[in-house]
Amino acid sequence: MADLKRPAMIDPSQLLRPEESFNGKPIDAFRDYSVDDEDPIKMRVRKTYYDMHTNMTVDLCRQKRANWLKFNHFKATIKEALIKLNELVDESDPDTDLPNIVHAFQTAERIREDHPDDDWFHLTGLIHDLGKVMAFYDEPQWCVVGDTFVLGCKWAESIVYGPESFKDNPDTYNAKYNTKYGMYSPHCGLENLLISWSHDEYMYQFLQHNKAKIPEKGQYMIRYHSLYPWHAGGDYRHLTNEKDEEILKWVLEFNKYDLYTKSEKIPDIEALWPYYEGLIDKYIPGVCEW
Ligand SMILES: [Fe+2]
Ligand SMILES: [Fe+2]
Repeated sequence: MADLKRPAMIDPSQLLRPEESFNGKPIDAFRDYSVDDEDPIKMRVRKTYYDMHTNMTVDLCRQKRANWLKFNHFKATIKEALIKLNELVDESDPDTDLPNIVHAFQTAERIREDHPDDDWFHLTGLIHDLGKVMAFYDEPQWCVVGDTFVLGCKWAESIVYGPESFKDNPDTYNAKYNTKYGMYSPHCGLENLLISWSHDEYMYQFLQHNKAKIPEKGQYMIRYHSLYPWHAGGDYRHLTNEKDEEILKWVLEFNKYDLYTKSEKIPDIEALWPYYEGLIDKYIPGVCEW
């Protein structure tokens, strides 16, 4: 059976972790998107991505932005939103079948081990996927989870399942969008690119809207953590600029904790709350608008 694993992708987070395996799971067993009709998780992951690649267009993304960036869906504290994630299993993730709140604490705690003094970084780990709460407000998972990619230009080669997975997407046949630069000018910068709608951009804009005091670094880690074709695949370098190279370093530093903590033991969430509630009070207190 054809192996549709991303072509020629060197995941930089592997270079950062020279071990052959992590907690007993071989390094190359993470982010395995190969096709296997007998494996229900692989089938689920593939369906989520094909739905995403078929339906995510420039127009749809603009509609989602217009809808969600009003922040009039609900009001909740960060803790309340995290608890909601207890009910969410990410259907695009081949590496974990656990509720997303477990992944939030695993990521945060590993960052805390390596960077004990950067408390903003711990909180960044805890909330990086919190934008997935959109799934509780009528958004299908393909519009919320998974890797992101740039819209309005040619599909990047390193996108999961490859450019051929966009064969039923109308933008594939739109001459305004399907060229190397599409609707952009050379080196216009990441912040001028329209990126597929997902939990990353929503959470970044949420932090801005609610005046979070998390440093810029942490906010950009959240904004681009799923943009694998850029940070792991090496695509889009004709569109990015010098500032983006700086952001890339931060995103890669974050990425290893996001990915390789998924096979770790389940943290004692109840015991950890007091510490993280202190960070929430410091950086993004009170009831927020979502
Ligand atoms: Fe994520
Ligand atoms: Fe994550």
